[in-house]
Amino acid sequence: MIEVKNLKYSYNSQYQALKGVSLKVNKGEMVSLLGKNGAGKSTLFLHLNGIYEPDEGQVFIDGEELKYDKKSLLKFRQKVGIVFQNPDDQIFAPTVEEDVAFGPLNLGLPMEEVQDRVEDALARVGMSGFEKAAPHHLSGGQKKRVAIAGILAMKPEIMVLDEPTAGLDPQGVTNLSKLLRQLNDEGITIIISTHEVDLVPNYADKIFVLVDGLLIGEGTPKEIFSQPEILEKANLKVPIVTDLFQQLETEGFDMNGDYPLTISEAKEKFIDLFNNR
Ligand SMILES: Nc1ncnc2c1ncn2[C@@H]1O[C@H](COP(=O)(O)OP(=O)(O)OP(=O)(O)O)[C@@H](O)[C@H]1O
Ligand SMILES: [Mg+2]
Repeated sequence: MIEVKNLKYSYNSQYQALKGVSLKVNKGEMVSLLGKNGAGKSTLFLHLNGIYEPDEGQVFIDGEELKYDKKSLLKFRQKVGIVFQNPDDQIFAPTVEEDVAFGPLNLGLPMEEVQDRVEDALARVGMSGFEKAAPHHLSGGQKKRVAIAGILAMKPEIMVLDEPTAGLDPQGVTNLSKLLRQLNDEGITIIISTHEVDLVPNYADKIFVLVDGLLIGEGTPKEIFSQPEILEKANLKVPIVTDLFQQLETEGFDMNGDYPLTISEAKEKFIDLFNNR
């Protein structure tokens, strides 16, 4: 479980990026943080394992307050793994395998276990065969995958991913969504930020909406995507599927206030609509 209480953070005295954010993510949940560019998503994430220390407020992991001495940070970072928005901030070793091995080696694991974890993590992100490659020669999407593998190899209890699908090709996006679902089924708590509203209903049990350093909404995808005022304040759109059904309603189709969010919900709704004609 991860809890943030009244978090405030300023990059400089003029601009406060977080203005008092409180949220709670329970063990085993899969949540999405939505908000426009500059809302404070990355700033918030960088507090979740103590990379940033707040001006005010606290972070709790499994009920224990995050402390900022070296020893405590090491402990918390083992529990909470963060995949940065920009993979260049994360990848630094001369080869892919050394990069992915770095975290597990630091945990003091035996070499054989480290190798197994590296192999497994690279396979899960579709990067097997790139072990000896130099990360700075990889494409943007490939770097992103390696960065994700590096965190996977640490086997954290909580994975925080800052715009994990940005820069991935369509197949890569689908594969990553599946991987996140799988990891969540394996018990890992997943927190992601994204601008991909079409995908959110597939990989969020709960959504938090951040606007200018403050949370303005929290709820299931159904709840959030049915509140136009929240969507407008956060520069968000409803998923394209939902948009279609809202338009069909204006053509006289009765939706009973229930708009599909995903393709599979849309399919059921179409079948219903056709059967009731
Ligand atoms: N290193 C920095 N120094 C000064 N200001 C910063 C720094 N990083 C971010 N900011 C400011 O803090 C605010 C929040 O930025 P943040 O990166 O957290 O937004 P974000 O929600 O992650 O946006 P995006 O969707 O573009 O990734 C922005 O106004 C940004 O300009
Ligand atoms: Mg960001």
